[in-house]
Amino acid sequence: MKTTKLLQSAAIALVIIIATVGCGAAKTAVPPTAAPVVTSGGYTIPVAKCAPNCTYKDMTAGFIQTGSESGWRAANTSSFKETATQLGINLKFYDAQNKIENQVSAFHQFNTDASVNVIILAALDVTGYDTVLAEAKANGKVVILEDRRIDAAPSNYYTYIGSDFVEEGHKVAAAMCDLLKDSVKKNVVEISGAVGASAAIDRAKGFREKIGDCGIVITESQTGNWGVPESKAVMEAFLKKSTDIQGVFGHNDEEAIGAIQAIDEAGLKAGVDIKTIGVDATADGFKYLITGELNADIECNPLLAPQVYEAALKAMNGDTSIPTWVPSNEGQFFASQGADALKAILATRKY
Ligand code: AHR
Repeated sequence: MKTTKLLQSAAIALVIIIATVGCGAAKTAVPPTAAPVVTSGGYTIPVAKCAPNCTYKDMTAGFIQTGSESGWRAANTSSFKETATQLGINLKFYDAQNKIENQVSAFHQFNTDASVNVIILAALDVTGYDTVLAEAKANGKVVILEDRRIDAAPSNYYTYIGSDFVEEGHKVAAAMCDLLKDSVKKNVVEISGAVGASAAIDRAKGFREKIGDCGIVITESQTGNWGVPESKAVMEAFLKKSTDIQGVFGHNDEEAIGAIQAIDEAGLKAGVDIKTIGVDATADGFKYLITGELNADIECNPLLAPQVYEAALKAMNGDTSIPTWVPSNEGQFFASQGADALKAILATRKY
């Protein structure tokens, strides 16, 4: 009788032990579940084999950059390169030199590169990626958009981490309305970003949504392709046509700086005779805020890498908690804050 009792309790203990080990074992090495893991945007995550315990050391990221068109872009690139080194991520960086065909072929390269498990795209254009997005799905590559959105359904990518460009356009309109509040005429010219880029499309849209609040009239609009020389030439042409201009909106700092140079060379005073607003708030933008030639600078945050890599790791681990869009936190700066205050702020900034 006693022996049977002993055997019985030993058996139960064994079951518990097995369960614990079983449970224990179950917790640490869950193979990717058979059931597809789908985000709120309808994106089926290609969960990595190392899930749910993947680390940055398991990540090989193919990064497709637009090019090197501005100070903002240089800061964005450094953010990805430096953060990858810090986290021990194997980064394959590609500079598309502002050509969409280069982006598409690099995307295909990464899709067919067995070592790559994450692809990060800073899209030059809002369209043109359908084929390679479908190929990424077929090849089990996690896709994340950074900086720029595209006109594709969120079921094509894990998440988009980048600015609310429409909101930036709203901020520009509000600042220009304030700068021109005592001006009878409110003729504003626009030097827009590269044609097709979501940053340019959405900033222009946001600006137009709010200029009616104070009766601003856009008298000219042309792209400066995010650069100083081209924007200067555009502003020179605008001024040759008419000097009846009270404000200029440059879609980034370089475009505003080009306009300022043209205004000065036309014998007018930038920031006084013609109000000037830029977007990005880079160190170069701050220099012109401090002199007062740039009246306002709407921030666009380029330091997106930590958030993007964190999201990529979550994707590899099959985490569906990330929303389809993670907007960046951004501020705005004004010459009216005063040179000393602006210099103090500039000293704390990384770009
Ligand atoms: O997408 C962000 C924009 O791209 C920045 O405002 C501009 O400087 C860059 O070229």
